[in-house]
Amino acid sequence: MPFTHRHLLGLEHVSSDDLIHLLDTATSFQEISEREIKKVPTLRGKTVVGLFYEASTRTRTSFEIAAKRMSADFVSLSASTSSATKGETLLDTARNLAAMRPDAIILRHGSSGAPHFLAAHLDCAIVNAGDGAHEHPTQALLDLLTIRERKGRLAELTVAIVGDILHSRVARSNVFALRTLGARVRLVGPPTLLAPELRDWGEVTSDLEEGVRDADVIMMLRLQLERQGKNFFPTVDEYSRYFCLTERAVARAKSDVIIMHPGPINRGVEIASDVADGPYSVIMDQVTNGIAVRMAVLYLLINRSRAEAEGATDSAAPVPAAEVEAAPTRLRRKAG
Ligand code: CP
Repeated sequence: MPFTHRHLLGLEHVSSDDLIHLLDTATSFQEISEREIKKVPTLRGKTVVGLFYEASTRTRTSFEIAAKRMSADFVSLSASTSSATKGETLLDTARNLAAMRPDAIILRHGSSGAPHFLAAHLDCAIVNAGDGAHEHPTQALLDLLTIRERKGRLAELTVAIVGDILHSRVARSNVFALRTLGARVRLVGPPTLLAPELRDWGEVTSDLEEGVRDADVIMMLRLQLERQGKNFFPTVDEYSRYFCLTERAVARAKSDVIIMHPGPINRGVEIASDVADGPYSVIMDQVTNGIAVRMAVLYLLINRSRAEAEGATDSAAPVPAAEVEAAPTRLRRKAG
């Protein structure tokens, strides 16, 4: 199936077929990370630049590992150590990087829409690694992959998303994709962090135990104090009293519920340590799945550019032999 997106800027307008295609591609790449030699030549000779204007542990590292597992060269740049500190604008920085002919730029930025801005000005593929409170598409894709792996499906599941919904790019990307794929979304948080427009996204409640009742999936969110320009609740202690996920609240969910968190975790603020580390937690699986998802995103975007450059009109174009040799089963079937 052809993947027609030039960039991955968000999931709001990604179709069900394309979401499934991304997840299936990620699934087919998972086994590469289980090999003794965790490297395939699929993106040999390609260059990926990570441009991070905000701190990151998981996203930045897993994009770098994903690129390197596919033999791409990865160059990482932090705004704090770049010429942005001397006043260079985002566009000038990106234009200079683009002049070095990367195949993809991964951008994390505090301003919503920053990756869209780059996509409008540059030729290479742009991947949104989190823009302000807008979207974080690869996080949502790895969340979907983890849910599908555990539950066997996404449609008809009840997913409770709990916490600082208003400021969460993770919540937005997940809501868009989960709804597209037929899941039921419940939003849970203090009224001040559930903006009126969010009511269009799913059921809304400010009662934690009610919100997680009979849920298949509980997705906890970090309290994003750095994005909160004013006080949305009296104190962090009071927030925790009502919205910290404890074993007592988990007991209201389905007996096979899975507990998710995108990280970083504030233990004891939005999630109790015994829940974060407990038997229902899939938080480390999410991190592991981040590699396969980011491999899939880089593969589909960069491969598309290559197909375009070679004049191929769809993905029925032959898969190069070196790629077939090292590729997961699904690609071998396609090539065969
Ligand atoms: N989930 C996530 O985006 O984590 P980082 O901020 O560490 O990348």
